[in-house]
Amino acid sequence: MDVTIIGTGNMARGIGTRVVAGGHPLTVLGVDGSNAEALARELGGETRAGVVGDPISGDVVVLAVWYPVSREVVERYGSQLDGKVVVDISNPLDVQTFEPVLPDAGSGAQEVAAAAPGAKVVKAFNTTFAGTLVPGEVGGHPLDVLLASDDDEAKRTVAQLVEDAGLRAVDAGPLRRAHQLEALGYLHIALQEQLGTGYASSVKILA
Ligand SMILES: NC(=O)c1ccc[n+]([C@@H]2O[C@H](COP(=O)([O-])OP(=O)(O)OC[C@H]3O[C@@H](n4cnc5c(N)ncnc54)[C@H](OP(=O)(O)O)[C@@H]3O)[C@@H](O)[C@H]2O)c1
Repeated sequence: MDVTIIGTGNMARGIGTRVVAGGHPLTVLGVDGSNAEALARELGGETRAGVVGDPISGDVVVLAVWYPVSREVVERYGSQLDGKVVVDISNPLDVQTFEPVLPDAGSGAQEVAAAAPGAKVVKAFNTTFAGTLVPGEVGGHPLDVLLASDDDEAKRTVAQLVEDAGLRAVDAGPLRRAHQLEALGYLHIALQEQLGTGYASSVKILA
């Protein structure tokens, strides 16, 4: 599976670490090419670097950017994303106030899907903190990655990527479940101060 990550920040590092651990080739695209090159060197494996706007060769594209940049990026790439699996990881919030934002489409992922009608959009990784993705576990428990999509094949592709990375994929249903996943992601953020867990906790389904 050839994976492209757009963004070179915290989540690009966390998800990139897991993609490389799973043995998949990776390209990281940054606004700044030197940031992408530095992250590619750090991640190792078969990781290449480029700049946002470069053609996308991968089958899976992870939008490791803030809402609403996620929508802007897919609009920029337009029909180049047709047929590709596009992973929206955002937790829509106002970066000034840290209060949640409720996208008109129901969720950030549905907004991305509306902006990229030819892409197969999957919501994933929004409930896993960047720092926990690097080791892939918290307290000896592999992270749960909750997935939502209207495209079952695309969801299976991302589930495979997640499992290859040593994590557990949990199918949360159709893309409209992204509304609940984004609320859960926000709640997990909001609990950090109260719990004092410093973004080192994970949301896990135990049974
Ligand atoms: N951090 C977490 O633990 C966590 C957990 C779950 C979900 N998320 C979600 O993951 C997403 C990324 O979070 P993060 O913590 O990785 O943020 P981050 O560290 O700030 O990284 C954001 C990246 O987006 C890039 N970027 C900014 N404007 C762009 C544009 N117009 N086109 C392309 N790239 C652009 C930035 O590039 P420059 O640095 O060059 O500006 C940076 O590489 C957010 O949607 C967040 O809600 C984060």
